[in-house]
Amino acid sequence: MAPIAAPPENNELIQMLQAAVQDEHAAIIQYLRHAYLMGEGELACEIEGIAREEMRHFWILSRWIVDLGGQPVTQRGFTDLAGTTAPERMQRNVAAEDRAITMYQDYLTRIQNPDLRADIVHILADEMRHHDDFVHFVDVATRELQAEAATTVEGDAAAAAGETLLPADQEALSWGVSHEYAALLQYLVHSFLTKDKDEEISSQLMTQAINEMQHLGWFGEELGGQGLEIPLDHHPLTLPSGPAAMLAADVQLEHETAAMYAQFIEQITDPGAKGVIDDARGQELYHENLFKRLLKRLPPEAAAKFAQATTSRVWTVGSLKQKS
Ligand SMILES: [Fe+2]
Ligand SMILES: [Fe+2]
Ligand SMILES: [Fe+2]
Ligand SMILES: [Fe+2]
Repeated sequence: MAPIAAPPENNELIQMLQAAVQDEHAAIIQYLRHAYLMGEGELACEIEGIAREEMRHFWILSRWIVDLGGQPVTQRGFTDLAGTTAPERMQRNVAAEDRAITMYQDYLTRIQNPDLRADIVHILADEMRHHDDFVHFVDVATRELQAEAATTVEGDAAAAAGETLLPADQEALSWGVSHEYAALLQYLVHSFLTKDKDEEISSQLMTQAINEMQHLGWFGEELGGQGLEIPLDHHPLTLPSGPAAMLAADVQLEHETAAMYAQFIEQITDPGAKGVIDDARGQELYHENLFKRLLKRLPPEAAAKFAQATTSRVWTVGSLKQKS
C-alpha cells in the first residue's frame, strides 16, 4: 500500500489504536485456537462468537486509524498459548480481557474525540461481557473436564486415544489453516479500506472474511480434534491500493486456493479432512465469482485494468514441498 502521511497531531492516537488493533488480532487467534482445541460443542461455539466480536473491534479500530491518516496494521500482538487444559486456557482468556479492559479504560482518559470515545465505550462494554463469559467458561470447562475424566476411568481410554491423520492429510489441513487465516485478514483489511468507496463491496468483503473464518474453523477442528496443533502463521497478504486492485487480488487468491484444494482432495485419504476441504473449495469458487461480479460494479476503466485478474500463478502440492 502507498504510505499515508498522517497529520502529526494524530500520531499518538494512531499509535494507541494500532496497539489496540494488534491486541484485537491476538484475541481473535487466541480464542479461535481454544475453540478448535475443544472440538465441536456449545462452549466452542460461544468462544467462536466472542472471536467474531473481536474481529468487529479490529475492523472498527482499523477504520479509525485510516480515517486519522494512519497505516492499518496486520501484525499480531501477544497471543497467550499457555494452558494445557480447557479451564486453564479459559483462565488465560479472563486475563486477556482484563488487559483489554485496563487498556480501553486508560484510552478513555486520554481521548477527546466524542465519536471515537463512543466506539471505545462500546468495545469496552463488549470486553467486560467477554470477561464475565470467560469467568463462567472456566467453571463450565472444569465440570466438563471432570465428567470426561469419570468416563475415561470407566474404561473408555481406548476411544479417547482416537485415530491420527496421515502426514499428507495434516499438511493439507495446515496449509488450509494458514491460507484461510490470510484470506480472513486480507478481506477484513480490504473491507475497511473500501468502506468510503463502495458500501456493497466493503460489506461483502466483511461477510466473506467471516466465511473464511468458518473454513479456518472446519480445518482447525479437524486438526485440534486429533490433538494436533493449529498453525498460527498466515500466508502472505496482498494489500494494494484501490478497490479494483484489491478485488483483483481477492479473485486471484480464491482462484489459487480452489486449485490447491482440488489437488489436496486428490491426494488425501481421511474422509473428514477430504469433506471439509471439498466444502471449502466449493465456497472459494463462489467467492471467486462474487469478487468478479463486484469488480464489475467499479468504473469500467478501473475494472478493465484487472479484467484478466485470474492469471497463471497457481500453486501445486509439489512446489509447496520444494519451498518447505
Ligand atoms: Fe476486543
Ligand atoms: Fe474481548
Ligand atoms: Fe476459505
Ligand atoms: Fe474464499
